[in-house]
Amino acid sequence: MQRIYVTGAAGFIGYHLADLLLDEGLHVHGFDAMTPYYDPALKEARLARLTGRAGFSFTRAMLEDPGALAADMAAFRPDVVVHLAAQAGVRYSLEAPRSYISANIDGLFNVLEASRDCGVRHLMLASTSSVFGANTAMPYRETDKADTQVSLYAATKKAGESLSHSWAHLYDLPTTCFRFFTVYGPWGRPDMAPFKFTRAILEGRPIDVYGQGEMFRDFTYVTDLVRAIRLLMGAAPVRPRGAEGVEEGDSLSAVAPWRVVNIGNGEKVALGAFIAAIEAAAGRKAIRNLMGMQKGDVVATWADNSLLQRLTGYRPETGISEGMQRFVEWYRGYYGV
Ligand SMILES: NC(=O)c1ccc[n+]([C@@H]2O[C@H](COP(=O)([O-])OP(=O)(O)OC[C@H]3O[C@@H](n4cnc5c(N)ncnc54)[C@H](O)[C@@H]3O)[C@@H](O)[C@H]2O)c1
Repeated sequence: MQRIYVTGAAGFIGYHLADLLLDEGLHVHGFDAMTPYYDPALKEARLARLTGRAGFSFTRAMLEDPGALAADMAAFRPDVVVHLAAQAGVRYSLEAPRSYISANIDGLFNVLEASRDCGVRHLMLASTSSVFGANTAMPYRETDKADTQVSLYAATKKAGESLSHSWAHLYDLPTTCFRFFTVYGPWGRPDMAPFKFTRAILEGRPIDVYGQGEMFRDFTYVTDLVRAIRLLMGAAPVRPRGAEGVEEGDSLSAVAPWRVVNIGNGEKVALGAFIAAIEAAAGRKAIRNLMGMQKGDVVATWADNSLLQRLTGYRPETGISEGMQRFVEWYRGYYGV
């Protein structure tokens, strides 16, 4: 039975991934420090739903503690490591930049070291659509140049992609980096727009609509996203014999068993349509407070999912109306409103 080590298992995506893997009867070891970036009670509540399930174990520690991480991973002997723990959030990276260096650079380095030492068969790392930065050619392709990050968050994630490439090359560590596109759904993150807008609309408070509402996002429903991660687990990159071994449109490195893959819904949704989906799900109208662009934000994101589809056959199943309906239902139930 496969053994999967999931960092950030009490986080939004980590929780859903662990849930899916446990449903399949796999062994899952979670690692998370329950950091206070947003309400730790939500993380504890996610963790409580995993604790006690057959095949689940958990360690509470910081990524920045190399000894704790290495010993924990060595004791579990994972086949696959899915590294999701990170300091997330674009806007907070203007307020607390050092926490991004610490978790996303130092922490990631510790994961690389521990994974190499354990002889992990496939290392999977969370990156972000934000690495496309100021790119304007849409939809975003993995083979596009991505050198113009506009937030420190994105810059640390791009650095993580590069660091992992060097480790994949030097130590033959098969590595897949995912670029996630605005993930939402039940048990979602309180710092993100789907959550913030839902809360404000249900409480009758105005919502701050940035970029005067002229923004677009590729919203990815969390259940679809973790299904894509699961499918990619079976598609570990193999070092090609030079550039001629890399197919057109594949981001596979010519010199290492390393690849980056977009996981999005493949649809560009206008902020207005997204707000309308929440209004319909909540049965209430939003009061819009139109604002300028926030520093570090990008106007649009839109994923080309064709590499993911080619590697795994994956197709997203959940559109924004259905997804927001399920999110609002969860929100009402969880907060009793
Ligand atoms: N949610 C999205 O839309 C989205 C989009 C792009 C990329 N990502 C990336 O996906 C990953 C998972 O995101 P999420 O939405 O589940 O975020 P999350 O904040 O809910 O989960 C991250 C978890 O990591 C833990 N953590 C953070 N720093 C840590 C540290 N230094 N040591 C140990 N644990 C630590 C936190 O306690 C948290 O439970 C992150 O790497 C994030 O950057 C998310």
